[in-house]
Parts: sequence; C-alpha cells; structure tokens
Amino acid sequence: MRHPIVVGLQYGDEGKGKITDTLARQADFVIRFNGGNNAGHTLWLEGKKLVTHSVPSGVLSSHAVNFIGAGCVLDPVAFTKELEELVAAGVDLGPERLKIDFRVHLIFPLHRNLDKAREGSATAQQSIGTTLRGIGPTYSTKMDRIGVRAGDLLEPDVEERVEKLVRHANFTLKGLGLPETELKENLEVLALAKSLISKHVSREFAPFYKSRATKKCVLEGAQGILLDLDHGSYPFVTSSNTLGAYAAVGTPFPLGGLGPVVGVAKAYLTRVGNGPFPTELKNETGERIRQNGGEFGATTGRARRTGWLNLDELRAGVQIADVSTIVLTKSDVLCGEKEVFALLDGELKRFEGWPSLTEGSALHPNFETFVAFIEKAMGIPVCAIGTGPDRTDVYWRHKDYNFWPT
Ligand code: GDP
Ligand code: IMO
Ligand code: MG
Repeated sequence: MRHPIVVGLQYGDEGKGKITDTLARQADFVIRFNGGNNAGHTLWLEGKKLVTHSVPSGVLSSHAVNFIGAGCVLDPVAFTKELEELVAAGVDLGPERLKIDFRVHLIFPLHRNLDKAREGSATAQQSIGTTLRGIGPTYSTKMDRIGVRAGDLLEPDVEERVEKLVRHANFTLKGLGLPETELKENLEVLALAKSLISKHVSREFAPFYKSRATKKCVLEGAQGILLDLDHGSYPFVTSSNTLGAYAAVGTPFPLGGLGPVVGVAKAYLTRVGNGPFPTELKNETGERIRQNGGEFGATTGRARRTGWLNLDELRAGVQIADVSTIVLTKSDVLCGEKEVFALLDGELKRFEGWPSLTEGSALHPNFETFVAFIEKAMGIPVCAIGTGPDRTDVYWRHKDYNFWPT
C-alpha cells in the first residue's frame, strides 16, 4: 500500500489541515515531515475551531498516532502551549498518541532572537516577512551540525551544548550591535523541554516499515510548494523543503510506500510574507476576498495578501511535486463575485462568477467550467472541493478516489 502525502500547492494556508483531518479519520498514523510552528493548520469540528502548529492534524481522530518527523523543528515553549490548548479542547495527547522523532531539532529563544535580528536588520526589500518563530536559524544550526535535538535532552552534556549555541548566536547578535540572548532564558527552555518533551521522544521506527501494508498513514506537509527552500521563490521562502519528496527524508517512512501526492490549492491566491505575487489584487476585490475568506494568518494573525489564482505557478508546482490529484478549497469564498480570473500562459482568463457552488447535486455550470479548466490546464483531476471550513464541508468530485492505492 502507498500512503498519501498532503502538500500545499501555493504559498501556504491552502487548507491542508482540513484535508489531513478528513483523511486522518481513516488513518492509523499522521506524520508531519517539515517545518515547525510557523505552520497554522485549522480544523473545524461541530462548530469548534482548533489550530495545530507543531502537532500533526490527526489530533481529532482518537485512534490515530501523531508523529513529528525528523524533518521538523520544535519549539518547546510553543509546543507546551499547543498541548495545553488541545487539552482545553478535550484532546489529551499522551506519549502513546504523540511521538517525536529523536532527531527533531529544538528551537530555543536564541533562534527566535536571530530570526528577529535577521528581519530587523534587513531593508524593506530584503526582509522576508518570516513568522519570527526562529525557524530559519534552527535549520541553520542543524546544517551547521551544532543544533540540539529532542533525543539529546537526556544526554549529560546537553547544557554545554545549549551554552555553545548561545555563544554562537551572541557572536552574530553582537556583530549586529543587538542585545545578546541570555543563557538563563535558554537553559529554562531546556529544562521545560526535558520535563515535557522527553516522554514523547521516539527511536522506534519499526511500525513504519513493518505495518505499512496494513496500517494507513497520512503524511502532512506544512507551508506550500512556492515556499520550498529549493523550488520556491528564493529568498522569499521558508527554510525547509515543502515538496512531497521531502517526506522520504523528513520521516522514517520508506520511499516505496509514499504517494499519491494530494495537492491542496485555493481557488484564489494568498501570500502572507514578502516576495513576488504577479496576480495580487491591491484593490476592493482583494479586500473583499480577504474579508470573506477570513484571510488573516492562523499563526501570526497577519493580513494575508490576496489575488487571483496563478495557474502557471500551479502547473509548475504540480509537475515538480508529481501531484496526483488536487483538492480545491475556498471556492465558496468567491460565490457572488460577478467575474473570477486565473492566470494561464501569462494571460488573465476571465470566468463568469458563480452564485453558489452547487445546483442540485451537480456543480453550478459556471463553477464547473472553472474547475474543468483547472483540470485541463493541470492535466490531473480535482478529486474534492471544499465548500466551507468544517470537516464535513467537502464535495467529492471523484467519490471513489483511492488515497491508499496498492
Ligand atoms: P493550512 O495551513 O493549509 O492548514 O490552512 P489554514 O488553516 O492556515 O487556512 C485555511 C483557512 O481556510 C482556515 O481558516 C480553514 O478553516 C479554512 N478553510 C479550509 N478549507 C475551506 C473551504 O473550502 N472553504 C472555506 N470557506 N474555508 C476553508
Ligand atoms: P502553513 O503550514 C503561510 C511564510 C512566512 C514567510 C516565509 C518564511 O500554515 O501553510 P518562516 O517563518 O517559515 O521562516 O517564514 O514563509 N510561511 C507561511 N505562510 N503558511 C505557512 O504555513 C507558512 N509558514 C511560513 O510568512 O513569508
Ligand atoms: Mg496555515
């Protein structure tokens, strides 16, 4: 059996959390393979909203084991807060239901300070508009081979290693004329991590090799293809790889068990940080879409930039990420627009707007034209259409789509 990889096909916030939650209802494992708490994945169940950041979006399926893969980075403070929020929502994730790969790199206050310093010392043109969660600097210390991993927490020299990281960060901060990061604050986070993270740390990967023929897994990507460190709009990208292929690196999951790649795309486009956005709408229409779509970051609350769908970028993403099928989200937000546009081959194509997504049991003819156009341009089917934020708000265009092919 092969297992689906859910990836965002744009600049993040496409609705990956919701589709992961939908698939998780049938799954035994839900595995995150990249990023950290720069992600914000929104789940809605029976009128209640829950946002996952570091924890995989299988939390609402009580039978599913959630696994944070080695490709991820983890902030102990934010993680603790996230677990508390989950408990308040009635979801108690003990070590049996939430596992952290021992190779996950930990985010310390020093990393957040470096993120802030990098952004603060950049010109308006150079600033990325990061989430300021310390993601980039944590992947940097990982690459530099001086990072501290979840599995290092109980090692006798872990304090020394954090001290070394602090010295390393202060060298840069001092050089920029900025206040230094305090050792004490970083050691406090280490102590918190020891008490709360250690019990979730896993070195046991056999289930992924042994039971992949019988147990269903969902691999959940964070961010989107256009924010991929190598394939996105560098330097306006995140510091991890967001392509589905990274699931083979960022988890202990065998390559042969991976796929199909399920690409999640919004019917329009949003981008929360800086960087190119050819179809951006800096006008009333853009503002209306922002308000109707609630386009404010699930992590930072920042207003998202809005614009028309860019099928040129989408097609490049579909090709490089080997996407098998698309889940199209938030078309309901465009209901009532007189006209809708999408960029293809460098030209804006115009579509008649749709007053509602469906007419009877079929899609509204204007919306059907739009969806069929996307399918033709991408050369792959749109298997499902989001009709609202709740996990039940899905119109299945291909009801029998097999997410776990053999
Ligand atoms: P993610 O980061 O890809 O998981 O997406 P976010 O949670 O950051 O942003 C997607 C937003 O759209 C959330 O508020 C979801 O509840 C919401 N959403 C997801 N799919 C749909 C849809 O089809 N229609 C509407 N109206 N909202 C949706
Ligand atoms: P989910 O998983 C949208 C963006 C930031 C910034 C750039 C780099 O919810 O889709 P970083 O803090 O990662 O160094 O910021 O990437 N970004 C996201 N945008 N959704 C996300 O996650 C994002 N994660 C990072 O806004 O432009
Ligand atoms: Mg999000």
